[in-house]
Amino acid sequence: MRALVVYEKGKYEVRDVPMPKINEGDVLIKINYAALCYRDLLQLSGYYPRMKYPVILGHEAVGTVVESRDPRFRPGDRVVPLLHEPDGTCEFCLRGLDAYCVNALSYGENIDGFFAEYARVSANALIKVPNSVPDELAVLVPCVIAMIYKGLKRAGLMHGEIVVVTGASGGVGIHAIQLARALGARVIAVTRSPEKASFIKQFADEVVTEQRFSRVVKELTNDVGADVVVETVGTPTMEESMRSLRTGGRLVLIGNVKPDENYPLRLGYVIMKDITIIGNVRSNRSDVAETLKLLNNGSVKPIIAATYPLDKFSDALEYLRNNSRIGKILIRP
Ligand SMILES: NC(=O)c1ccc[n+]([C@@H]2O[C@H](COP(=O)([O-])OP(=O)(O)OC[C@H]3O[C@@H](n4cnc5c(N)ncnc54)[C@H](OP(=O)(O)O)[C@@H]3O)[C@@H](O)[C@H]2O)c1
Ligand SMILES: [Zn+2]
Ligand SMILES: [Zn+2]
Repeated sequence: MRALVVYEKGKYEVRDVPMPKINEGDVLIKINYAALCYRDLLQLSGYYPRMKYPVILGHEAVGTVVESRDPRFRPGDRVVPLLHEPDGTCEFCLRGLDAYCVNALSYGENIDGFFAEYARVSANALIKVPNSVPDELAVLVPCVIAMIYKGLKRAGLMHGEIVVVTGASGGVGIHAIQLARALGARVIAVTRSPEKASFIKQFADEVVTEQRFSRVVKELTNDVGADVVVETVGTPTMEESMRSLRTGGRLVLIGNVKPDENYPLRLGYVIMKDITIIGNVRSNRSDVAETLKLLNNGSVKPIIAATYPLDKFSDALEYLRNNSRIGKILIRP
């Protein structure tokens, strides 16, 4: 089969590799779509020290079961894998916190991922997709929509609260806006680019393009500030995100587009404003299942900037770096 193989740090090619073999408890899936994520760029730049080489890159996929050695799945089932493979037996897995599995392996990092025609996946990592959720939306659930769902749940988001989303045009941002709205929030979207603002406005209550966006957030909230900020960018917007929060506000930290930069956290500010900072990554199986149910009513529209065949992976990666892009890039193997 064809697959995108990273054979050493930063070096990759699309090549023929043997079909994956499955063991007891595994499922072989045909990849319908895989999705690109900013994380793929970071992985190819060497920011993931646990990468094994060679490895098939890609951690976001939707597929169809071809062969199953687990009674929970049958050929023809449409499924999404988690980003990681939980063992299903550790203390955290037993508590339903499989995102914290102590023996988890990571697709596209230390086990083969999904930029390929087929993939071997443990049944412990799979969730069935309801018929009402199309492939183009399902592929975005584990790493994007359910990950945000988990973050907003951990932030205790309440109906009617005000949520600021930074990096609003990004793959995570444009879907975070829609999910927060679907959960009953009033959403203020923050984007760098005025050109993208009108598109984003279809989904958000307000769109702010000012670099010093906290001033505008204050104006829009009677000088109180936002209840929650979903930070999908990182150091470039972090200071304004902190300033946007009300006393008792919560910051859900998701993005770190510049991993070499540090953010100088002012401890007094965090303490005196009673701020909660929540680092958030991955999603549990239960988050994925709950999110898929929530999407039944069409409340989140998948925003797909482009779809590329596997052989054009380099072009897809180039487009991921393009600042005019809005939304996610899909790969159709
Ligand atoms: N925690 C998790 O589980 C998780 C999951 C997926 C991704 N991530 C991380 O989340 C981040 C975003 O991922 P993504 O796939 O959404 O990437 P993306 O599609 O490239 O979106 C990032 C957005 O951030 C804004 N941005 C980028 N560089 C910026 C800069 N220098 N200054 C200000 N704004 C900038 C841009 O939005 P505007 O032009 O609209 O401002 C851009 O569209 C990455 O760090 C990624 O690794 C984390
Ligand atoms: Zn991802
Ligand atoms: Zn476990």
